[in-house]
Amino acid sequence: MQITQLAPNVGVEIAGLQLAEAEGDELEALKQAVYTHGVAVLRDQQFSPEDHIAFARRWGGIDINNYFPLEDEHPEIAVVRKKADQQTNIGGAWHTDHSYDQVPAMGSILVARVLPPSGGDTMFAHMGAAYDALPQDLRDEIEGLEAFHTADHVYAPDGIYAQTDMGKELRGQELKTGAVHPIVIRHPRTGRKLLYVNYAFTINIVGQTREESLPLLQRLYDAALLADNQCRVAWQPGTVAIWDNRTTWHNALNDYPGYAREMHRITLSGEALAA
Ligand code: SIN
Repeated sequence: MQITQLAPNVGVEIAGLQLAEAEGDELEALKQAVYTHGVAVLRDQQFSPEDHIAFARRWGGIDINNYFPLEDEHPEIAVVRKKADQQTNIGGAWHTDHSYDQVPAMGSILVARVLPPSGGDTMFAHMGAAYDALPQDLRDEIEGLEAFHTADHVYAPDGIYAQTDMGKELRGQELKTGAVHPIVIRHPRTGRKLLYVNYAFTINIVGQTREESLPLLQRLYDAALLADNQCRVAWQPGTVAIWDNRTTWHNALNDYPGYAREMHRITLSGEALAA
């Protein structure tokens, strides 16, 4: 297994490994790479839906997404699909999957199934590098603070997606979510300090209104999106990416009008987060 950095602070490409066969020490090394670098990209994978499910179970467990359409024959797999005639994509803003859950999903395994001729890349940003880049006074200011996360404004019947041509594709509009997490968490496996707030799902700092919270949140978001903290994953047939939701944000670029893109996603179970 050969590991090459995608960018100085985030992402690796891993060669010499077929995920359908990965187990034991190889799987452990892959997990460490994902926890540390945030996202691992593997090319030329022979990875059927059955392989996808079996690999996720070997990793540690599956969280079924409550909102995305599920694959007809494999309900463990969420379908991240934009049809050729749709304008809106899924995940087209910087976010952390499932941060609105009390025990957020560890990460995701995304498999390219249908790709546009060009475009449709996914951006990743490293939240450990983002924390490290904060000036000391800002680190002091957020020490001990917590923030409230929810998905209700995104998926509700009058929410963000409902106002787009993606609204009818989604499920779970009646669900209510909400969780409080520290603004700075320690990665449960590496111990690294990570910024744990995101544009899509973080509403306010606990004890402050949204309006009061926004200036500080915006300073954190600006730090998260420094160019040095980001990498770009360009998909090819056979590409699989595995990312850690604690370590990264991601953003699916919507720059392929008139073409379909379909990805299969399995969300991996996580663990409670702490400062
Ligand atoms: C997502 O999980 O947010 C979708 C990512 C992608 O489609 O690239």
